[in-house]
Formats: sequence, structure tokens, C-alpha cells
Amino acid sequence: MAARKIIIDTDPGQDDAVAILLALASPEEIEVLGITAVAGNVPLALTARNARIVCELAGRPDVPVFAGCDRPMRRAPVTAEHVHGPTGLNGPVLPDPVMPLRDMHGVDFIIDTLRREAPGTVTLCPLGPLSNIATAFARAPDIIGRVGGIVLMGGAYFEVGNITPAAEFNIHADPDAAEIVFGSGADLTVMPLDVTHKALVSKARNDAFRALGTPVGLAVAEMTDFFERHDKEKYGSDGAPLHDPCVTAYLIRPDLFSGRFINVEIETRSELTLGMTVADWWGVTDRAPNAMFMGDIDADGFFALLTERLARL
Ligand code: RIB
Ligand code: CA
Repeated sequence: MAARKIIIDTDPGQDDAVAILLALASPEEIEVLGITAVAGNVPLALTARNARIVCELAGRPDVPVFAGCDRPMRRAPVTAEHVHGPTGLNGPVLPDPVMPLRDMHGVDFIIDTLRREAPGTVTLCPLGPLSNIATAFARAPDIIGRVGGIVLMGGAYFEVGNITPAAEFNIHADPDAAEIVFGSGADLTVMPLDVTHKALVSKARNDAFRALGTPVGLAVAEMTDFFERHDKEKYGSDGAPLHDPCVTAYLIRPDLFSGRFINVEIETRSELTLGMTVADWWGVTDRAPNAMFMGDIDADGFFALLTERLARL
């Protein structure tokens, strides 16, 4: 089966970095057409820098990296340095990128790629706020029908919120963008906190990264060690939740995940619950389903896949 063509839209972020590494380590299943950076965990200049650092760590300076939106569509920027550190990629000491950013704006790359590639052949993989994706849809509605699918990390139902009591960071950071994407009619698969909070990097799993004995293995171990300190203190959990790699792992092994095709709406007005994903998990409304909302993961299978693939880099 031919590899699936994808665009990774991302705000690295240590977990974004691991998701990108997993994608680049899996050419049988995934062809990365490009990476578009978006403002999120840290400002755009840093997410665009970090995306290139990760490509070079993977030995892939050929992957085109574009800078996209530097702020949400309407609201003020929200960042998460308290989780990811001031650079967004704290943990390992990695060299500044040598590969250049491409001149084209990330939103234009998304539009041009979807218009160029055959309809239904490109999957969008947003790992951060949905500002780039929604801006592309608003500027070029013709591309929506050409999207082969969207597999994103964002939202929550049973886990409710991580940046506010009601909302997950990616959705809360640009709720207007999320409303556009969830209302677009595109084929949507969602990896919410309900799943990612079950993908915890325990010490044994972190040790397995380190035991790879490679620069990538060490860097991932140091990234997740850093990333873990916040969630361990907050949730008392045994390890950091690896949110974004659930997206790229799904493209390789969808059988590791299970969920329900349900209606998911986005709160865009209430300041109290702004960015909440109102997921009709129990089917109590007559609102039409619009998303495959994942609820469970085979965590051991996920980490076995991740560790095996990282060993290739
Ligand atoms: O809430 C977790 C999400 O927000 C992840 O994508 C993380 O990288 C941050 O962007
Ligand atoms: Ca992210």
C-alpha cells in the first residue's frame, strides 16, 4: 500500500517533536509533504525553529518547513512555556537549525498542496492550535472537499481540560479556528486527552528510549523527562502524557486506538468554558456526528511501535 501523504501542522513542543520523529521514521506508511509551524506552545518564531531542529535531529533537512499563523484567528495568543519551557523544546541540548525556513507562508503551502495533489490523497495532521488549517479553509473553501482526512490532537471529554478547567490547550488557544475545522465537514479523527492521558511515559518506557543508545533516543528521553515534570506534579501521574505522537501512531497502526463517531461542538462564546469540546459521547442530542473521537489506546502497543521506529533514526 502506498505511503499516506501528510502535512504536519505543529507547535513544537516536546510531544510534537516525538510525533514528527515517528512520522519521519515510518516512510512505508507516511510521506511527509511538509511541516507548517503555528503559534501555540511557544511563539511562532520558536515553533518554526523547533520544527527544523527536529527535522535535522532526524537527519531530514530536506523536509520543507514553513511558518504559518503567528496568532489565533480572533483572540489573543495563549502559550504554554510553563509546560514546555522557554524554548518550547527544553530538555536536550540541540544545535540551532541550519536548514532554512521556506519563503512561502504555511497557509499558502496547505492551500497549494491540496490544490496540486489528487483529491482525497493528502491527510492534514494538526498537533497544535488550528489557526493554519482554519485560515486555509476560510481563504480557500475549495480545498475542504480535497482533504483526504484530518487526524488531530485536541479536545477532551472525560478528561475535561488541561489549560483551563474546561478546555484542552490546542482547542482553547484558537477556539474560532477549531469551530471552523470541526464544522467543515472534513473527515475528522480526534485524539483527545481521554486517549493521550493513557499514553504515559513511565520510567521503564523512558529508559527504553535512552537504551536505544542513539542521539534520537537520548533526545527523546531528555525531552520527555523535561515535559514530565509539569504533569507529574499536576496529576501525580507516572510519566508525561505523549499527546501528539498518538496522531502519527494512528496513521501507522489505527488498531491501537478505539473511539466513537459522535458530534463534537466547540464553545466559542463563554469565557468560563472557552474552547471546550462538547462531545456527545452518550448520544443524548440529535446533533449530527462529525468526528471519530478516540477514547482508548493500547498503550503498550503504542510505546512498542514508537520505540521500534525511533530506533531507525
Ligand atoms: O494539550 C496538549 C496539546 O497542547 C499538545 O499538542 C501539546 O503539544 C500542546 O500543543
Ligand atoms: Ca502540540
